Amino acid sequence: MSFFADKQALVTEILGRYPQGRERSAVMPLLREVQNAEGYVSEARVAEIAQIIGSTATEVKSVMSFYSTYSSVPTGKYHLQVCMTLSCALKGSDQMWDYLTDVLEINQAEVTPDGLFSLQKVECLGSCGTAPLMQVSDAGYYECLTKKRLDALLADMRARGDGSLPPSDTRAPIYFEPHPSSPAPVTSSEPGGTA
Ligand code: FES
Repeated sequence: MSFFADKQALVTEILGRYPQGRERSAVMPLLREVQNAEGYVSEARVAEIAQIIGSTATEVKSVMSFYSTYSSVPTGKYHLQVCMTLSCALKGSDQMWDYLTDVLEINQAEVTPDGLFSLQKVECLGSCGTAPLMQVSDAGYYECLTKKRLDALLADMRARGDGSLPPSDTRAPIYFEPHPSSPAPVTSSEPGGTA
């Protein structure tokens, strides 16, 4: 069944954002519509988008593969994206990943039987100073993670169960020598601090 068949006004509005002859530029907002509605972009939706913008499925997939925000497989209500790039790796992201696969009993691109959680390894999330971290779904960054903080976050998400996110807890990096204008650093004495 088509996703966009009953959304012609939306398709027209999206295509209208770009000059005539540049319909291929609409690939990302069209992907976003599907990703938001269905949690992932299936082969059938890729083909549909390619047809709308006068492109090929291969080209649409090449855009998808560049951005971790699009998934080609179903995701859970809480899509946990763990940064595995250098700064996070040096701060234990491998161990964090192993811990998550153990407690959730799923692996890369899998969803827990209750549909709540899915896991994905991603490249640098752009917050290397607060490694290790993960992004949940399309929003929340959870930084300076430890087992203790992960357990608390997973318990919070389980209790919510509706995809709503625990409060953002963006943390200040720990500076060797705090700059006068820096926010107060997190210390191990704070609840949920380094454990
Ligand atoms: S290396 Fe993980 S956020 Fe940059």
